[in-house]
Amino acid sequence: MSRIAVVGTGYVGLVSGAILSDFGHKVTCVDIDQNKIARLKQGIIPIYEPELETMVEKNYYYKRLYFTTNIQDAVEKNDIIIIAVGTPPADDGSADLQYVLTVAESIATYMNGYKVIVNKSTVPVGTGQKVKSLVQDALNERGVNYTFDVVSNPEFLREGSAVRDFTHPDRVVIGAENEKAINLMKEVYRVLYINETPFVITNIETAEIIKYASNAFLAMKITFINEVANLCEKVGADVQKVAKAMGKDGRISPKFLHAGPGYGGSCFPKDTRSLVKIATDCGEPLSLIEATIKANERQKLKMVDKIVDALGEVEGKTIAVLGITFKPNTDDMREAPSLVILPELVKYGIKLKVYDPKGREEGTWRLHDIKDNLIWCEETYEAITNTDATLILTEWNEFRNLDFDKYDELNSGKYFFDFRNIYDKQELTGKGFKYYGVGV
Ligand code: UDX
Repeated sequence: MSRIAVVGTGYVGLVSGAILSDFGHKVTCVDIDQNKIARLKQGIIPIYEPELETMVEKNYYYKRLYFTTNIQDAVEKNDIIIIAVGTPPADDGSADLQYVLTVAESIATYMNGYKVIVNKSTVPVGTGQKVKSLVQDALNERGVNYTFDVVSNPEFLREGSAVRDFTHPDRVVIGAENEKAINLMKEVYRVLYINETPFVITNIETAEIIKYASNAFLAMKITFINEVANLCEKVGADVQKVAKAMGKDGRISPKFLHAGPGYGGSCFPKDTRSLVKIATDCGEPLSLIEATIKANERQKLKMVDKIVDALGEVEGKTIAVLGITFKPNTDDMREAPSLVILPELVKYGIKLKVYDPKGREEGTWRLHDIKDNLIWCEETYEAITNTDATLILTEWNEFRNLDFDKYDELNSGKYFFDFRNIYDKQELTGKGFKYYGVGV
């Protein structure tokens, strides 16, 4: 059993803390937000993530998982300190490291013996070394000579399936400088290690790049299929079949080849911008990623054009919007395509009736500027009633089996914009709908 402190109870920190305690370690989750910690102690978790609440409740009950605002205590009593605080984008696209460095300073201030300082936050290459020298300088200033190691251990979990991703990872990446730190990290992930999960052991810089390169590649892959989808529309091809056939090639793989309204979320947009900045600063620009970012912005606007072109006279029309979160099974709206598409539609004088199973709370403030043209609905058919068109922006399961026979009685128009391609074009056309997908 390892004694672990996880600093930051955001998405990555809370999931990591909860599951590492489930792996049998004694884990203390630390946050400066007193309210959040108080709520976590009552089993109230700040995000919607399937299975996480049960995981937190169980391990808190069995006293493997603790919550505190006292970072001094957490540093003193634990050997492994995981930094999992945010690295929000700064104005120039780079990752803002202030929270990571503040935690590193606190660790240096309260260190009372050997510690492994693990960075799980997504950080630019070179941050590990920065943390190392910051801690060393602070220890020198304190006049103490405790030893420590810095490790980069990036996280690849996806929102909506974070618990499964953490417990069944494709790989665990550990960037470290010596055997002692590597072995301690293997102990942390012992459950995975004995289950033969591949472990990639590298230096710190390589681990830092692996995270960015993986996210940028996936963003590029989605953008590639989105552009192919746009081409398919022009030439009468079906991108779904193109992607399926491409995916059969083992070198390509079928995953992340689903055309849509553009990628969003807390990682891809931020990490691609940050990687471009790192590369440009090094004099090695990543032109493919630069193009990916631009194409993704275009993709969202193309969705608007598609709707406006199809509806013709749009002023005063009403659209039922099903799904606004950046993907299903999350309440997260960060960089969701809806945040670009919906305000653009409103500019054309379109009114929106919106339903999302989990997105309303965050959507209310993120879409505040268009509130006068937006009606929040409690369920799918309320949104569809008395509208000219239906627009699917997020592929929640509950939108996959709509009752199309109801459309007439609900006085709903039959323009159907399925920007997640969850329906069959022919089938809907057969039912009298004017169907618009992406690349089909
Ligand atoms: C991503 C990475 O997958 C994960 O490894 C990393 O740790 C964090 O960033 P996440 O942002 O939770 O995870 O969502 P993901 O499932 O990757 O989807 C990102 C965006 O791409 C969503 O907007 C999604 O709708 C879109 N997407 C994904 C597509 O448009 N098509 C696809 O084929 C896949």
